[in-house]
Order: sequence, then structure tokens, then C-alpha cells
Amino acid sequence: MCGIVGYVGSKSVVPLILEGLSRLEYRGYDSAGIAVGGDGPSLELRRAPGKLRNLEAVLRDQPLSGTWGIGHTRWATHGRPTEENAHPHRDCTGRLVVVHNGIVENYLALKQELAAEGHTFVTETDTEIIAHLIEQEIRSAASSGKTMALEDAVRRACRRLTGAYAIGVISADEPDKIVAARNGPPAVIGLGKDSLGEGEYFLASDVPGILHHTRNLYFLADGDVAVLTRDGVKLTDLHGEPVTRPVQRITWDPIQAEKSGYKHFMLKEIFEQPRAIRDTTLGRISLETGKVFLGEMKITEEDFRRATRIHIAACGTSWHAAIVGKFMIERLARVPVEVDYASEYRYRDPIPDPNAIGLLITQSGETADTLAAQREMIAKGMKTLAICNVVGAMIAREAQGTLYTHAGPEIGVASTKAFTSQLVALFLFALHLAQTRGTLSDDESRTLVESLSLLPGKVEEILRSADSVCEQLAKIYSGARDFLFLGRGIHYPIALEGALKLKEISYIHAEGYPAGEMKHGPNALIDESLPVVVLATQDETNRDSHLRYEKTLSNIQEVTARSGKVIAVAIEGDTHITQLVDHVLYVPPASELLLPVLDIIPLQLLAYHIAVRRGCDVDQPRNLAKSVTVE
Ligand code: F6R
Repeated sequence: MCGIVGYVGSKSVVPLILEGLSRLEYRGYDSAGIAVGGDGPSLELRRAPGKLRNLEAVLRDQPLSGTWGIGHTRWATHGRPTEENAHPHRDCTGRLVVVHNGIVENYLALKQELAAEGHTFVTETDTEIIAHLIEQEIRSAASSGKTMALEDAVRRACRRLTGAYAIGVISADEPDKIVAARNGPPAVIGLGKDSLGEGEYFLASDVPGILHHTRNLYFLADGDVAVLTRDGVKLTDLHGEPVTRPVQRITWDPIQAEKSGYKHFMLKEIFEQPRAIRDTTLGRISLETGKVFLGEMKITEEDFRRATRIHIAACGTSWHAAIVGKFMIERLARVPVEVDYASEYRYRDPIPDPNAIGLLITQSGETADTLAAQREMIAKGMKTLAICNVVGAMIAREAQGTLYTHAGPEIGVASTKAFTSQLVALFLFALHLAQTRGTLSDDESRTLVESLSLLPGKVEEILRSADSVCEQLAKIYSGARDFLFLGRGIHYPIALEGALKLKEISYIHAEGYPAGEMKHGPNALIDESLPVVVLATQDETNRDSHLRYEKTLSNIQEVTARSGKVIAVAIEGDTHITQLVDHVLYVPPASELLLPVLDIIPLQLLAYHIAVRRGCDVDQPRNLAKSVTVE
């Protein structure tokens, strides 16, 4: 997730782009850059690693001026967050630049092809390939005596890209023009007028980037290409056929706009989960072969084959993901997994085993406890790998290889999209390990990869149906003093995560418990004032899952017999459960190992709506910080 802003008009472009980028910094802050076209025949670039203020400092030292240009704030995916990897990226002539939000899946194949044509590359990014590809189209046309317009070259290049992109392209050879294209990540075009009534046109990844200048926008659809000049905006598809999009008038205030109209970042991030899950799998799976590609883990197949066990260390929500991961890895790859709280790891004096692999799970990559556990693992002679959301973060730097989740920046303190994308990354890791160790047949692999590819759509379905139901439930239960969350097997960590979400943002005391353990003590807590959330989803095609479900039904009856109020999470069409419980939150069917990704969505929404009703500060709960850099 990155932020793009572009402008063509009569105003001074640099302050306008910087202001727009500052409003999109929530989309990424690893580096920033700007390219400006002035009166001369070339483009001028300034870039800086880190936050936008670093770019502003560079521009104070080396100012730029012009009336058209593009800017970018980066959330690193391919390539470290350095100045070299900052956007905009140039082609080899230096006359054409590109800003990009997304991931080009086939960039390695394209890079090889372009290298064979004589292109040389100076960055580690996938974006640089796009600039070269566009230039190659123009060059090929020129070699047969033709002139190719920038927009035609962009369309031809985009037809060759697989993956996700929203791009802005400018060329020194075609002043006062921006070509934008979209496939996946959002892109909006703003229609404005300057003080003399002349047209001015804007490009942005998201509404807040341009809302201070215009409220009249086109939202580009997948496959759209827009050409912005001082005379107006032309919209076509990738083959140059004209398309029309309605002009929408945005009435949000600027603060609302940063949250895309959502009341809180947490809610926005809950609703971003289908996109985040898609981005976690992008370029890593083949639906045809069922194979998973995780070259970025930088570990040899031999190391994976030799692994005697996996030690996972993590904190909080990431620790819950780790427990789900244990089920996935043990079930698919048949390798024993130990899960530790990172803050406890070194105090148990773990037994050295050079064939064990250490795995750190962390959204921020900066959590001090997790870093300390990683250093302990390294000191014990283990190789460490990381599952991390922030490219180039400390834990990723110290790990041998990192599987990035690509969830995009998470602003709400309570983790939501980072969690579900960690679950997806763990599933990929488990599948890859299993494929390397030969514990899965090709058919099994294909079925699992197919189920994985269906997850984003299922999450969308839950978001559509469960939001209003959770809002209603919040009306009934926001006054509760305590909550219990119960689950069995792979659903138990989701009970823990559901309880953590509720307690951290609503300040209601909540506990997650293995459903079968209730009779060994906690049943004493149950009375008519205790809401109990039970994870009662099942994969009917899986005998163990069904058995677990049946036992969970018995646990539900133990609660209702003591007048406890039960909210169940169950599979659509489960009419039996409606007779046993007070309320049901439905999710679509999925394979057992992927059900946790669906289970957690209604629990996030429930916690959110309860916290809102209680008037809590949802995005910044008291006493908590987004990254915890002290032990
Ligand atoms: C809870 C939450 C925390 C973090 C924990 C670890 O919603 O966000 O429990 O999961 O502080 O943080 P990372 O994953 O950044 O290491």
C-alpha cells in the first residue's frame, strides 16, 4: 500500500503534491519522492528515505518548480526502504518516470526479458520494470519509424503486467500530461478549476490526497487508463476503447476522508482485510499446480527438509497467530512446533538444536520482546525467519529471510488486518514446508491453494452480513462486565484473540478459554449476566472437525443450562445451532485450517461496536502503543 498524488494545471505543483502526500502518509512512510516537469525539456526528481519530512528537507535544499508532476509515499514491498528504491522510478533514458502502488507478480520474468533487450536496472523494485517496459514499447515503435504516444505505450505495457497496480506516468517528451492506470489498488481522478476558471486535474490513491482542491472525482475501475492534460481527462480501457465513469461528488470532511469515510481506522482496516489477504498471497501461489513459492525466505530446501522442529516466538495478537500456525504446520508438514510468548522465551533456557528453525511473527518488526527472543535463538545456533508487515524492520533485518504480509500500514492500535494476513502467511509457510518435505499430494496441495484463493471473497461476504448484526449485539451487551470466548482446537487461539480485541478497545474484562476446559473450573463463573461467545464453525468434509463441533455443542449446552447467554459463530445454513443459542453470527464454509481467518472477522466487529457504544477511544486505547519497543 503506497500513496500517489499527481497534478496537471497552472499552479505550483510541489507544495500541492507535498500536501496531498502528507494526507496519504497513512498509506506508507518508508520513503517519498516527487518528479516535476517545468518549462524545460526534462523531468526533475527528488527522493528521500523515511518520512515525508525528509523529502521536504531535500526540497528546501534543492528546490523544484513546475506545474505538472507526480509524487509518491512508499510502503515497501519489493526492495528495502532506501532512497534508491524510492519512487518515482525512471526508465533508462531518464525521460520517463513511474509511481506505483501494488505488486507486479511477473516482474522477474519481465526483468530478464528487458535485460536481454539491453535495459539495465538500478533498483531492487518491481516498479522500475514498469518504466522500462513502457520505454521499450516506445523504442520498438520508433525502430519501425513510428511514434507511439505515452498513453498507448502505457496501455501496451499494462497488458503485460500480472499482479496489482495503480500507476502514474509522466514523460519529458509529452509535457503537461499524466497517464494513470489501475488494476487492483485504488486510483481517483479529481476534476478542478483554478482561480481563472481554467481546468486542473488531479490523480491520487485515495480521496484525502486531493480533497482540499476538488470534491468532484472519478473512481477508476480495474482496467481503466486515464490521460490527464490541461484540456481534460480521457478515460479508456487497456485497448484504448473509451469508457465512461460517473463523476462523484464527495461530501466527507477531510478527517473522515483519511479513513475513507469510516469512523475509525480500526473499522477501515477491518474492511480492508479482503485486499490485505489477496496481497499476502499475490505472486506466491499457483492455482494450476498448487505450488507455493516463498523464495524470499532465503532458506534452502535442505534446511527445510532437515528441520527437526519450528520454534515460534511472538507477542499479543501475533502470538495468537502463532498458535493457529502450530496447527497448520503440524497438520500439513508434520513438523513439531513450539510456541512461546517472546517475553518468556529466554527465561526457559531453550534446548539448543541447530536443526530447529526459529520463526518470529510480528506486525511491526520492532517489538523488543520478539527481537530479544530472536537474538536468543541466534545465540543458540538457530536460523531465524520472520513473518513481518513492515519491510526492512529490525527483526526482518536480523532474520535470514522474511515472509512479508503486505497488509499495508496498520494505524489502529488493535491489530486486525495484520492478524488475518499473518494467518494467511502462516498457511503459505505450512504449505511450502509440507511441499518441500513431501507430506502433501499434488491434489491435496491444489485443493488447499484453491480454498486459500477463495478466502477474500468469503471475508467480504462476512463483512457485508455481520457488521449490522454486531452493531445490534453491541446494543444488548455493551453493558456487560465480563465476557467469555470459547473455542476448541484451531479455534481456541481465535477465542483468545476475540477476547483480546474486546478487552483492549472496550476495557471489558474478557477471557478466552478452551471450550473443553470450562468444566474444570470456569463453569463456576456462568450466570445470566455472562455473555459467552462460542466458536462453533466446522468443516463438514473433515471428520475431526465435525467431532470437535459436536463436542462444542455439548459445551454450549453446559453454558445455557446455567443461564449464560450464548453468541455462536457458526457456518451458514447451520440451523441446528439456532435452537441452542441466543444469537448466531454466520460465516461461509471453508477448510478447517482456514476457518480461523473467517471466525475472527465477526469478533473484530463485535469488539469494535461494543467499544464505540461505550464511547472508548477505539484507535488509541488507553495505556497501549502500536509498537512496544521496551521489554
Ligand atoms: C493487539 C496488538 C498487540 C500486538 C503485539 C505484538 O491488538 O496489536 O498485541 O500484536 O504488541 O506486536 P507486533 O506484532 O508488532 O510484534
